[in-house]
Amino acid sequence: MVVLQAERLSKTYGRGAVTYQALENFDLTVEEGEFVGVMGPSGSGKTTLLNLLATIDKPTAGAIRVGGVDPSRMSASELALFRRRKLGFIFQDFNLLDTLTMKENIILPLALDKTKPKEIERRVVELAEMLGIAHTLDKRTYEVSGGQLQRAAIARAFIHEPDIVLADELTGNLDSKAAGDVMEALRDMNERRRATVLMVTHDPFAASFCKRILFIKDGRRFAELRGGGGGRQAFFQEILDMLSVLGGHAHDVSRSRHP
Ligand SMILES: Nc1ncnc2c1ncn2[C@@H]1O[C@H](COP(=O)(O)OP(=O)(O)OP(=O)(O)O)[C@@H](O)[C@H]1O
Ligand SMILES: [Mg+2]
Repeated sequence: MVVLQAERLSKTYGRGAVTYQALENFDLTVEEGEFVGVMGPSGSGKTTLLNLLATIDKPTAGAIRVGGVDPSRMSASELALFRRRKLGFIFQDFNLLDTLTMKENIILPLALDKTKPKEIERRVVELAEMLGIAHTLDKRTYEVSGGQLQRAAIARAFIHEPDIVLADELTGNLDSKAAGDVMEALRDMNERRRATVLMVTHDPFAASFCKRILFIKDGRRFAELRGGGGGRQAFFQEILDMLSVLGGHAHDVSRSRHP
């Protein structure tokens, strides 16, 4: 089943004499249970694409469907509800509230819905155990590590069972060990719960956990790689090779992590 579809998506910033086409006729289809990465040089249009898919920004041309629904015709309030129900988000800087415990942060997306307390408890415990943060649930955000914070953010992104979770540079603020923990947790969500994920990243190590990677350059699709049977180390190498073809400082090799 297709959960996300973008057709000939274009975005032009500015108007009048000074305009910039950040995205041009971009097609994308994501099936249920896929784990897709988006990579490309700085300024290639990755965040633009993510903001359009997240319905935070509107395309200049082209169409988007999430779970078969076209958000472009919705009112602002319908759109807010749509985003809250159908989508989950993970950000680089975690976006957790430090006045709340880990558990309170995780259940936030359910606060406005009529989910029963028993069901909420069941979901939190199940997710926290899968993500390896069950022992941190009653802690405040300043009492846990960055990797644990980001795993709480992953739990929060999935707790309302969205159609797809969108992530932008989710390992950007993490050291190598924490980045590995977070990516393993996300991979488990994908493999054991068939969760659908689309993530933008500069980090070839993080990208090597994906099953498919789209490479974008100058707002257009440049290439696509699929993780095959060769294992993650081999996929990591393929990603590095593609990034060097792509050019434009798509990543900083000296600072890259390795599997
Ligand atoms: N609000 C805006 N107004 C004008 N131009 C913009 C705006 N947002 C982005 N751009 C331009 O569109 C292009 C694509 O930007 P975008 O943020 O999508 O790139 P990116 O691939 O996410 O880059 P990075 O890897 O640095 O995060 C860039 O040239 C950028 O300067
Ligand atoms: Mg960006």
